[in-house]
Amino acid sequence: MIAARHVGKISPIVLGTWRFKEWSMSPAELAAFIEGAADVGVTTVDTADIYGDYQGESVLGDAFRRAPALRDRIQLVTKCGIRLKSANFPDLRVKHYDCSRAYIAAQVENSLRALSTDRIDLLLLHRPDPLMDADEVAEAFCALKQSGKVRTFGVSNYLPHQVELLQSRLPFPLVVNQIEYSLLHTRPLTDGTLDQCQKMRIVPMAWSPLAAGQIFSRAGERGAAVADTLQRIARESGMTAEQIALAWLMRHPAGVVPVIGTGKLERVRLAIAAASHSLDRQHWFELLEAAMGCEVA
Ligand SMILES: NC(=O)c1ccc[n+]([C@@H]2O[C@H](COP(=O)([O-])OP(=O)(O)OC[C@H]3O[C@@H](n4cnc5c(N)ncnc54)[C@H](OP(=O)(O)O)[C@@H]3O)[C@@H](O)[C@H]2O)c1
Repeated sequence: MIAARHVGKISPIVLGTWRFKEWSMSPAELAAFIEGAADVGVTTVDTADIYGDYQGESVLGDAFRRAPALRDRIQLVTKCGIRLKSANFPDLRVKHYDCSRAYIAAQVENSLRALSTDRIDLLLLHRPDPLMDADEVAEAFCALKQSGKVRTFGVSNYLPHQVELLQSRLPFPLVVNQIEYSLLHTRPLTDGTLDQCQKMRIVPMAWSPLAAGQIFSRAGERGAAVADTLQRIARESGMTAEQIALAWLMRHPAGVVPVIGTGKLERVRLAIAAASHSLDRQHWFELLEAAMGCEVA
């Protein structure tokens, strides 16, 4: 369990529920799946107000009602700030972002109701909003913290300067930046994101850590090199290729926490087992070389 400065508890692997529709689980099956994940140590569950055309949180709420003890066993992460066009919201003419004080407050009330819970363990702003007024966000966050409705706060897909701006107005630390990071998306290594996380002790959560399953697709020269190198190192280490792909992310000293998107308990077990494997430095660089298509300078 990661207990970095101020973050509360986050399991070393987070269960992402974005693909819940593909899983076709009944509420009872979803509750059993989340319980099974918690049993092996994956106790943090990620969702967002917009998942599944705004239905994802209600589906999780149904699962919690089926298994009343489950909510207290997990840490619940949700997000707000994106406004998707939807038949449920005919007034929305354009997809946009909204991090206004009023929208954040209203969305948290909706999330609490849909999730059938009285608190959110971690609230993330889903995307950087070019019209964000950091003072307003700070007011919204402070009120939510004071009321006990949200315990901790973070951001998602923020660049370092955007984190800095928001942090400059907050009286408490942002605890997470949830970012796209995988062997097929290595930009956070070089754009300052992971350096900032390490510096500010912000936990980087890596979404699509297996590049949405594409990491094994062998697409293009680099895709093939990554897949081949993963397979070879997996053989040498007595692990699976997906475990090595996750271990590569977790080897970073910023303390990366992969948000996995599988609907299969066996893959959840493999992922949590990968969290106790520390990848050899040369293996790490072999994978970086495959991902970059050249050796380091
Ligand atoms: N903050 C953001 O902006 C943002 C954006 C996107 C996602 N997210 C979060 O990140 C979570 C994870 O994203 P993701 O689902 O793209 O993650 P992922 O773990 O990279 O991809 C999951 C997909 O890969 C497949 N897969 C896993 N292992 C495989 C293997 N060995 N061979 C072939 N396919 C395999 C899974 O299928 P099976 O189900 O069959 O295992 C599933 O379809 C989401 O649920 C969401 O919570 C956040």
